[in-house]
Amino acid sequence: MDISVIENVLKKIRPTEEERAFVNGLMMELGEIAEETVEELGLEVKPYFVGSLAKDTYLAGDHDVDLFLAFPLETPPEELREKGLELGKAIAEKLDSHEVAYAEHPYVRASYKGVSVDLVPCYNVNSWRDVKTAVDRSILHTRWVNESIKGKNDEVRLLKRFLKGINTYGSEIYVRGFSGYLAEILVIKYGSFLDVLKKADFMLRQKIIDPENWLRKEPEIAMRTVKREVELDRPLIVLDPVDPRRNVAANLSWERYGVFYFNAMEFLEEPSTKFFFPEKAEAGDYLDELRRKGTHLVTLIFGKPDLIDDLLLPQLEKSARGLERALEREGFGVLGWNCGYSGDKAFIMLEVERVERPAVKIHPGPEFFTERGRDFYRKNERVWLRGKMLYAEKRVKENILDVISELLEKNQASLGKNLREAVKDADFLVDYVPSELEGEAYLFLSRKKEGLKV
Ligand code: UTP
Ligand code: MN
Repeated sequence: MDISVIENVLKKIRPTEEERAFVNGLMMELGEIAEETVEELGLEVKPYFVGSLAKDTYLAGDHDVDLFLAFPLETPPEELREKGLELGKAIAEKLDSHEVAYAEHPYVRASYKGVSVDLVPCYNVNSWRDVKTAVDRSILHTRWVNESIKGKNDEVRLLKRFLKGINTYGSEIYVRGFSGYLAEILVIKYGSFLDVLKKADFMLRQKIIDPENWLRKEPEIAMRTVKREVELDRPLIVLDPVDPRRNVAANLSWERYGVFYFNAMEFLEEPSTKFFFPEKAEAGDYLDELRRKGTHLVTLIFGKPDLIDDLLLPQLEKSARGLERALEREGFGVLGWNCGYSGDKAFIMLEVERVERPAVKIHPGPEFFTERGRDFYRKNERVWLRGKMLYAEKRVKENILDVISELLEKNQASLGKNLREAVKDADFLVDYVPSELEGEAYLFLSRKKEGLKV
């Protein structure tokens, strides 16, 4: 293995002494401000740093602070919500600026000395049995990683940067990749960045990773988790070292694992820094792609609703898939779809085999000697029989844009619930996109957007 590639990457991703000093100073300062504010408000709350800063697995230049405000377990949920937000705001008042953000519970996102600081209320849990909200485990994760990592922090950094480079990092619902915590577990389990890559195939076959032996310690609960996740056909089942009820890889999709699988293989064959720091995909001409393939591109452009990515992107995908299905039903072969937004405009792209279809469609009917058969006979004009079954020839719209308009009007395409109105008002474009979407159209049509082969 060519060590120089890894050395070169490490130089870029390992924080410098200067950055470490800044980060540590910042944490000290924030910790003091938090404790002082807790006292001022007369609360019984313990501040904890969690996330990659507290685990020393952050990438150079990427050091957002996660400061968790842990309330006693007896605190009622409403009180945690209220007092947690109040405390977060009171701390943030002493920082540079802040806003309230919404997850399962509201929390405060502040900014201090150019760094983003999340102030997240949670319960002060000591074991998985105490976990009440989605964020409570983070304190346990931080403790487990710090006890288990044994100096392999840079190996985690390498894996995280590799996953980012090949576009498979992030457990957000619109990424469905590897979370930072999953990367930490894999390095701890297999020993190094390279060992994790070498296990890309083995992991998939083994399927279950259980670093804390839950299957032995809590067989019933752990088996229940395994069964559930097997049924959901997850690529990997990683029993959370701090909670046997959870699969750490629950949000990892087969597609993102596949991209990791092939890139790991290619990196081991021919290591290069380009996996960690990819060059921007070279631009090509989407019109050349269309000519070469003999396909067509239909694009819907509409106003982007004011939603966070976690809500917007899944709805865009749902709408694109809904249109794909409806168009297939109408006889337009769909080769692929793509969606996203740029500025205040959202878009859905569909690659289709054709944009015109015949003016008639064959409409299969019921058996002729039934109530519905007689109805079908009366309602349709050109009718015939094949055996006992009725058929009719129906006039339909020929042009794909007319068909899409009709599908939207009659609610015959399933769309994301906050997008219905916007999509109905969309502008339609065929074999043409505005200049700001040309690059996107090329990446989509050339299948480079999937990112499997680079
Ligand atoms: P982050 O997504 O900020 O991860 O979640 P991180 O470990 O700090 O990594 P980077 O460097 O910012 O990318 C913070 C904590 O939330 C929990 C983990 O405890 C993590 O350390 N978490 C987050 C999960 O357990 N699962 C997830 O999918 C996301
Ligand atoms: Mn983080």
